[in-house]
Amino acid sequence: MPHMTAFARNQWYVAAYGHEVGREQLLGRTILGEPLVLYRTEEEGTPVALHDRCVHRRFPLSESRLDGDRIVCGYHGFTYDTTGRCVYVPGQKRIPRTARVASYPVVEQDSLVWVWIGDPALADPRAIPRARHLGSPDWVTVRGMEPIDADYGLLVDNLLDLSHETYLHGGYIGTPEVAETPISTEVDEGAGIVRVSRHMDDAECPPFYARSTGIEGRITRWQDIEYHAPCLYLLHSRIAPVGVLPEPDGSDPNAFHVEITYAITPSSDGKVYDFWAVSRDFARDDDEVTTFLRDFNHTVVMQDVGALNLLQRALSTEPAGYQELSINIDTGGLAARRILARLVEEGGKPVEKVQ
Ligand code: FES
Ligand SMILES: [Fe+2]
Repeated sequence: MPHMTAFARNQWYVAAYGHEVGREQLLGRTILGEPLVLYRTEEEGTPVALHDRCVHRRFPLSESRLDGDRIVCGYHGFTYDTTGRCVYVPGQKRIPRTARVASYPVVEQDSLVWVWIGDPALADPRAIPRARHLGSPDWVTVRGMEPIDADYGLLVDNLLDLSHETYLHGGYIGTPEVAETPISTEVDEGAGIVRVSRHMDDAECPPFYARSTGIEGRITRWQDIEYHAPCLYLLHSRIAPVGVLPEPDGSDPNAFHVEITYAITPSSDGKVYDFWAVSRDFARDDDEVTTFLRDFNHTVVMQDVGALNLLQRALSTEPAGYQELSINIDTGGLAARRILARLVEEGGKPVEKVQ
């Protein structure tokens, strides 16, 4: 298929928000083409991720039910423990040796449920990038998730080049200065991190920030992107009336700070989960601001969803091999593609097992 970014295996991906994983409802999610079922254990409340297909006749376990910490298949009752081992089959005592489903390494951190897609022996929780503000009481967060019918590479492109705010999100978060101000890009190839910064000294205040901060005049607006390939995207946003500078020691008590987080989780070919969150360090008790930011940002996200759905449909009718035209604003996106290509290659190599 043209215009499909290959998946990078042997990586951590956000499968869900912590609050989505529970015991009432088994949660089904497809990640890198692998169907997963997620739930929590009864005592410890630890998230569990298993392959979402019963070994017997492939019934989705996410459409089944829990019995304690075990999943009882909703079709003929094969029963699996938290490690994916089958502990009961109907009508016979002997449980076939091959009766097990894969279980995935899971880590819950910063209110996100991360799963490792690849060889479980290689999973190192310390490699998971942090998004501490999502779990911190110093920040108030609104969040959501939208599935998009587009190659995840299109969402990476979209988030690394915010000049589109001016056109796609004009009247919401975009103003002329976003597209006009040049970016600076820094790439840490080894760590797989792309940083894109755009510092606007004197800019119009878009409704997103005018209505949440109460600022009436023009602003300085800094956008500092930090993309940890493949999944986590952080946008550190600093807003202040023109003239308000950070203190010499770098602290910034008179500015408004918003942390915008995305998790870009490839689902299957041409499908991606777009997890989004907006965290703020001001007006933390103001429910009106919370509601406004939730609704407003949802609208902004849906503008991207609409654009990417459209773009994917347009691209999928084209033959492969079209030479895109890239300019300065694409520097971050191109660096991200390079890093993703390397991760895809590394994740596809056969792993040498240490005996
Ligand atoms: S398909 Fe699960 S028990 Fe038959
Ligand atoms: Fe956007």
